[in-house]
Amino acid sequence: MNWETAADYAALSQRAAELLLDAIRRDPRIVLGLPTGRTPVGMYERVVAECTRAYHCFRDVTTFNLDEYVGPSREYLNFMKSHLFDHIDIDPANVHIPDGAAPDLDAECARYEREIAAAGGIGLMFLGLGGNGHIAFNEPGTPFASRTHVVPLREETRAANATAATHAITMGIATILESRAVVLLAGANKRAAIERLRSGAVSEEFPASALSWHRNVHVIVA
Ligand code: GLP
Repeated sequence: MNWETAADYAALSQRAAELLLDAIRRDPRIVLGLPTGRTPVGMYERVVAECTRAYHCFRDVTTFNLDEYVGPSREYLNFMKSHLFDHIDIDPANVHIPDGAAPDLDAECARYEREIAAAGGIGLMFLGLGGNGHIAFNEPGTPFASRTHVVPLREETRAANATAATHAITMGIATILESRAVVLLAGANKRAAIERLRSGAVSEEFPASALSWHRNVHVIVA
């Protein structure tokens, strides 16, 4: 793992936006994995500012979001629209988010996996970190071999995310680990989880530790 410490949240956001935009410059057809949550908001702000000011950069980019709540709310889709998609030149056909309102959720999970595979896999995955070490909605105890699946949300996660949803669809840990490169973002409020990750101990009780198995992980902490 490649560790980088940013001076503060603004610097973390700036650095993450640079990594995202550099990846698009290197490969305009890149497939990105994208997170929701408070942590990536600053990154999206800077990406939008840069893309609207300088050039149109998302024309051939494909995105896959990590997760979505089960139910009709489409909370994460709406989040992504308001923070990123509504402000950039992405083709809506290239935007992918699990459909938490699908009538058959297991079929939706299988469909999502097929779409990722059909796009050639994820080139660069951005991740946030739950206080309990979760990545996407893979809560402690999730098998590292998991693929996109439906999960019940823990009380602590529902409280942290202020959501009424009880379940979510999430990429599995194996799905995430297949990304060719990963950038993990963690602000100062995740210090305890970051220290645990830094210790190097790998356990399914601490989902983010699966990243120790990946050869190309960049962690930015503030
Ligand atoms: C949610 C999301 C995760 C995210 C985590 C941390 O549970 N499903 O993908 O990483 O929250 O969110 P925040 O950045 O708001 O702390």
